[in-house]
Amino acid sequence: MTAQPVILDVDTGVDDALAILLAVRHPALDVRAITCTGGNAPLAQVVENTLRVLDAAGPGDIPVAAGAHRPLLEAPQHAVAIHGADGLADLNLPRSAQRPEQGHAVELLRRTLADSAEPVTIISLAPLTNIAMLLRLHPEVTDRIARVVMMGGAVGSGNATAAAEFNVWHDPEAAAIVLSEGLDVLMYGLEPFYRVSVTHDDARRLADADDPAPRLAGALLTHLIGIDATEDRVADDRVAIGDAGAVCAAIDPSPLVTRLAPVEVALTPGPTRGQTVVDLRTMVGADITTARAVPPATVVLDVDAEPYRRLFLDALLGATAPA
Ligand code: BDR
Ligand code: CA
Repeated sequence: MTAQPVILDVDTGVDDALAILLAVRHPALDVRAITCTGGNAPLAQVVENTLRVLDAAGPGDIPVAAGAHRPLLEAPQHAVAIHGADGLADLNLPRSAQRPEQGHAVELLRRTLADSAEPVTIISLAPLTNIAMLLRLHPEVTDRIARVVMMGGAVGSGNATAAAEFNVWHDPEAAAIVLSEGLDVLMYGLEPFYRVSVTHDDARRLADADDPAPRLAGALLTHLIGIDATEDRVADDRVAIGDAGAVCAAIDPSPLVTRLAPVEVALTPGPTRGQTVVDLRTMVGADITTARAVPPATVVLDVDAEPYRRLFLDALLGATAPA
């Protein structure tokens, strides 16, 4: 099996870290570059966190570049309550000896796409600022993008606001650009984001591993279990793997229930700003309203979560993964 070339765009971020560990360790993916944007934490911290996670993932020479430090229009806002003051669960990981590339993330995206013999999948796990800037600055590489697997948006309720999911809410204009370009987009929104999970036992097993990659994953999941407890969200013995689920979706879409549907981002100021309006109507009566001219995205409506639990644990624990 030849590995699928991918670029990760991240705002590391506890669950971005889980996603990076999975992507680097899974043989089905060939991670060609990681680009960073400010989001869960300020940009400089996101870059440092990403390098620290790569140190734990093991040897490799994946280039990392700093990109947008703020959204196109909005002021930057960070998610300290979930990700910790350092964006990485305040684990005090050792500072990385690696340094990011000199150039901007958009240049690393452009070069990686242009240099690849095959089209490359972009796995976007952050506000979409870097990807939107790439599309506007370098339209010549658009046809080198195989597809965009985007953790962002929601069919139903949001999390940053009642209507909007964090990554889209943080930079709604950027998300609107990416969704209106006619690219092959898989929208992995909040519905699968919260469903794909591991058990608390799985998290303990990861935390007890000798290998630094599963050990870091276990420590990060333990932090998320603590957040679930303080927010009274522990319905069962499970903890969501968040952005890492979107990496699972890029590797194997078979557990997903999807619909091809137009997705429009609400840009008007007010309570719906950043909402992804997913048009799931099957019949549009001409007497009611006509469909709007929005290119469709493949929207994840539901997921069989267990195969993704297995995929995540197998990649990180190998032969020692539980049944
Ligand atoms: C998204 O926002 C961040 O908190 C997570 O890393 C994820 O990408 C979920 O809304
Ligand atoms: Ca993220």
